[in-house]
Amino acid sequence: MADIIRIEHIARYDGQPVTLQGWLQLKTGKGKLQFLRVRDGTGVIQAVIFQGSVTPELLEAAKRLPLESSLVVTGVVKADPRAPGIPGGYELGVTDLQVVQESAEYPIGPKEHGVEFLMDNRHLWLRSNRQWAILRVRATIIKAMRDWLDDNGFILVDTPILTPSAAEGTTTLFQTDFHGEPAFLAQTGQLYNEANIFAVGKTYCFGPTFRAEKSKTRRHLQEFWMVEPEIAFCKLEDLLEIEEQYVSYIVQITLAERANELKLLERDTTALAKVIAPFPRISYDDAVAMINAAAARGVTVPPNDEPLPAIAWGDDFGAPAETFVASQFDRPVFVHHYPSAIKAFYMEPEPGRAEVCRSADLLAPEGYGEIIGGSERMSDPDVLLAAIDRHGLPRQAYAWYIDLRRYGSAPHSGFGLGVERTVAWICGLDHIRETIAFPRMLNRLNP
Ligand code: 4AD
Ligand code: MG
Repeated sequence: MADIIRIEHIARYDGQPVTLQGWLQLKTGKGKLQFLRVRDGTGVIQAVIFQGSVTPELLEAAKRLPLESSLVVTGVVKADPRAPGIPGGYELGVTDLQVVQESAEYPIGPKEHGVEFLMDNRHLWLRSNRQWAILRVRATIIKAMRDWLDDNGFILVDTPILTPSAAEGTTTLFQTDFHGEPAFLAQTGQLYNEANIFAVGKTYCFGPTFRAEKSKTRRHLQEFWMVEPEIAFCKLEDLLEIEEQYVSYIVQITLAERANELKLLERDTTALAKVIAPFPRISYDDAVAMINAAAARGVTVPPNDEPLPAIAWGDDFGAPAETFVASQFDRPVFVHHYPSAIKAFYMEPEPGRAEVCRSADLLAPEGYGEIIGGSERMSDPDVLLAAIDRHGLPRQAYAWYIDLRRYGSAPHSGFGLGVERTVAWICGLDHIRETIAFPRMLNRLNP
């Protein structure tokens, strides 16, 4: 009996008999020679069947085998630098083949399919090499996100998904029914993080968040994952230093550990290799001036080469403006001190200039837009109460949140990094729908 192994470990077994468990990805060959491309979730290998090395019945069965049939295949590993596969460089000389299930006719073929067809068949599309590579990169990014925080004194405290009130504006809430009371799916764990820092100093939450965004863009999901660190006794300037260390670590670890997957995705990693702290910082005011000067020169922006529109002070940045500002730097760039009117209610106003807040967004290079939103939080109870009133939020629902400013208030700051936008950027994807196994978008709840 040969050992059951996984294809990612194939190099350890050169010259030895092994057994693989997987699925038939591709079949070529003719007559006496059959090539079965087998994938097992860790890689892909070419299994070669010669007439004579297996029984005639088995050769016939292999010839008829439909794509995506599940199988257990035994054979001898042979190094061959030309052998295709992932990682490639080895093939399997088959001695035995057991069909676990003959697949029904598989709907996804090597021909080009439309995106909607592939999205309808997302449960099957995930098996393709490209989607497989993205899933693996995503897992590594998430592990890096957790590792850095765990290794730097942040305590994971999970925050609720069912919440009684809004944190990021009332227009994107998903409402549910909580035994007769309205409840909302969490847009963020931040407000609870702010309670948790008073217990543990530095915390983070990591979970799914929900936004009923009416936007159908390549950057928006209805359900996305966000990691949210929050730190006591931390000002905006200190926060940005943490963010740049954090993002540099995530990018560099992923480049090192997922080089093969990124190559499969044909990602040019030159720009990613430069993502090392410190990152440039530009104020909102200077960014507006930069955008308007470029708009006056008639600058156009990718992906559609549309003209960059001029903006007025106080406007939020659209995708073209973000893309343009990011393109002026060779690393991710912080835009700080946005107008308070376009940001969430909890952001600390700049002393002496209350029309702007101590906030910063981090814009990714290459047109991937905002990947982090962060800020210093209001630490004074009266200032916070006034902001809650100004935003028309019900005081009662925020009573506990205001309390945090009464019992040992301290300056504190935090940020949220969106997993899917980070995956899109690092993988070089032109749409966020491929960054998560089962995306929830304005027009899609299935599968
Ligand atoms: O800027 P946002 O809305 O910030 C917050 O929610 C803060 N409470 C975070 C904090 O300070 N703890 O969202 C943060 C990030 C964005 O920069 C983006 O990466 C991602 O979350 N994001 C989305 N990703 C996909 N689809 C959407 N609809 C997203 N909305 C935000
Ligand atoms: Mg934001």
